[in-house]
Amino acid sequence: MVKKNITRVAAVIGVMLAFCLPSRADEGMWIPLLLQQNQEEMQRLGLQITAEDIYSINHSSLKDAIVQFGGGCTGEVVSPQGLLLTNHHCGFGYIQYHSSVEHDYLTQGFWAQSLQEELPCPGLEVRFLKEMRDVTEPMLEGITFDMPEPIRQDSLAARAKRLQESLASPNTEVKVLPFYYGNQYYLFVYEVFKDVRLVGAPPSNIGKFGGDTDNWMWPRHTGDFSVFRIYADADNQPAPYSPDNRPYRPKKYLKIDLRGYGEGDFTLVFGYPGRTQEYLSSYGVEQILNIEDPMRVAARTARLEVIKAAMERDPAVRIQYAAKAASIANGWKKWMGEIKGIQRMNVPGSKRDYEKVFQSWAGSATGAEYAGVLPALKAAYEDLEKPLALAVIFQERVMAPEVVPFAYSFQKLCQVSKGEDTSLSLEEALEEARAKAQKFFKDYHPQVDRAVFETMLGMMENDENSALFMNMPAPDLKKALDVFYGKSLFSSPERLTAFLDKYKASDYKAIEKDPLYNYAGIMLGTYRQMVYPMLAQGRKRIDSLQRIYMKGQLAMKESGAFAGLMRVGNQNNLVLSNVGSSRFYPDANFTLRVTYGKIKGFEPADAVLYKHYTTLDGIMQKENPDIYDYVVEAKLKDLYARKDYGRYANALGEMPVAFIGTNHTTGGNSGSPVLNGEGNLIGINFDRCWEGTMSDIRYDAKICRNIMLDIRYCLFIIDKFAGATRLVEEMDIIE
Ligand code: ARG
Ligand code: GLU
Repeated sequence: MVKKNITRVAAVIGVMLAFCLPSRADEGMWIPLLLQQNQEEMQRLGLQITAEDIYSINHSSLKDAIVQFGGGCTGEVVSPQGLLLTNHHCGFGYIQYHSSVEHDYLTQGFWAQSLQEELPCPGLEVRFLKEMRDVTEPMLEGITFDMPEPIRQDSLAARAKRLQESLASPNTEVKVLPFYYGNQYYLFVYEVFKDVRLVGAPPSNIGKFGGDTDNWMWPRHTGDFSVFRIYADADNQPAPYSPDNRPYRPKKYLKIDLRGYGEGDFTLVFGYPGRTQEYLSSYGVEQILNIEDPMRVAARTARLEVIKAAMERDPAVRIQYAAKAASIANGWKKWMGEIKGIQRMNVPGSKRDYEKVFQSWAGSATGAEYAGVLPALKAAYEDLEKPLALAVIFQERVMAPEVVPFAYSFQKLCQVSKGEDTSLSLEEALEEARAKAQKFFKDYHPQVDRAVFETMLGMMENDENSALFMNMPAPDLKKALDVFYGKSLFSSPERLTAFLDKYKASDYKAIEKDPLYNYAGIMLGTYRQMVYPMLAQGRKRIDSLQRIYMKGQLAMKESGAFAGLMRVGNQNNLVLSNVGSSRFYPDANFTLRVTYGKIKGFEPADAVLYKHYTTLDGIMQKENPDIYDYVVEAKLKDLYARKDYGRYANALGEMPVAFIGTNHTTGGNSGSPVLNGEGNLIGINFDRCWEGTMSDIRYDAKICRNIMLDIRYCLFIIDKFAGATRLVEEMDIIE
């Protein structure tokens, strides 16, 4: 039967273009529990330790030195006293939290001189993975293929809850999560530490050197790291903050290797990648390529133009809007890279070719269950088009003027005032509102915001889809802007502060009469009633179809229907979606993964060659005292002038700063340790090259590169630049 399939598939393939046999060594985000299957390949590439040394059920292993840092990053323990490294951009919020005009740690950097000076960070948590288990059986037993979706969902939720509760204990968090779109389930037990303190951070002109201009780019010279420490109680157990807590003694900490690396060397990145979508259909990819990404990019291009022009005119605005522009630009730049990459690789085309093969296999007896899934996905994506466009308009245009979501956030104060929300007292709600207002206005410039508002309205004016958000509160929104910015409580710190200063419960009426508050309410109401339900329903439908499609893809591979046919053809960009891989790996879902590859330069464009590492020389070449992102501290210049790199120089006497490799990473991998073949720390992951950001959808080893901070630069900054030698002394250093 398998043979018959092959003939059938071969017929389809015959009319298709040639495919390459992809070398898949670099692609994949592997489940540490199953790493045995990768061991041979990893060792062939240069790993000298075993899969068991990386993740073990029975012994302490490297995984015991890795943490989920906050809600979206990774960190690693590097000393027997719980010292933690992550990125500067991951610690940024806490560096900012502790900064004030007198102690501007963002600008100046911060180095605790002793344990006593390490700063508590309320709300910051780190999680160690204690164990993970495959719970596919208890989760899916008796759940049939054609069970109605709502019944399926309810029963899965109940089972997950039962499993989670059965393992509940203090300071642990238990989570059951779907893999392969719900075809497999794993359970995770985390130990959660809540007393994590800020130990050190370089000044922003090191930790963010190159800023947004260099973000997602190579060659890169950002010293993107910060230092924290985990604290535990007298028994070394997790505990809430207490001055009596002491440095946590970890089961494992990483050793640091200063001996360097060469191009071609093995690297392993161990961390928490957030989200990838490698198994989408051509319809899904086309929707991202043709609708979602371009719409988001266009809205942000317009928004950034306004903001950047204002930043250039006024240094005060430059400071106020630096972080905001950074976060708007981060997605913007990534999506532009993604569009280019998807186009260059013709991902929709190769997915369509693959789908022909799939469809043909689904015509055979083994694949019969899956015959309808692709047509159903096509229809589901068509139905999603409209709600998706509306949602993007809402998120990227309607909510772009900051004052809109800000005004709406005062709903809470109204509800507390009216007694509809009793979770807070009026005093507490007022306190919260005042703090929120203070924080908001610190970095707010009404003229800039108004210009953004006008620009967004301009984009929406002659746009059919935007009409839904255009004809509500006033016939001419542009005129309404005079009222919004001239009279509303929420566009002026003076008006709002005066109002909140004498606020009493009955004043909620003034909020409810406020033109901006009303406008925001109508916009949110429109979204919630007329867009979100369609969007959520459409996404749900796609999710359950995607589960079936995923199962089909796994089954097709299992059947061997495709395997022999991968040997046709030569090198070109038509890589068959994931099918060339001898193993499938599940999409990222912010669970611990191993990804590995080689240190390697690349060719971003015709005739352009990128070397695999950068040095301090490059920082000096980029230096420009007039451009905020390229200011270099006198102290660093001095060390450079004297080539005073101590033991951190490379064999050529240079100070290496960053390097790139073929590791398959994504957002969430920020702060992840980069290990060499011996399992020692040589770098900290912090970004990707934008030419390869389509790797969230399709990875290409030719062009996808992750960007890592060289651990020698990190230690050089801690030790030689900042003089925080006590930290380096805690570490176990190989040289
Ligand atoms: N691109 C990196 C990431 O996605 C770094 C972002 C922070 N840096 C910045 N200049 N905005 O998280
Ligand atoms: N900077 C990203 C993060 O914060 C990592 C870059 C990427 O998307 O790979 O996780």
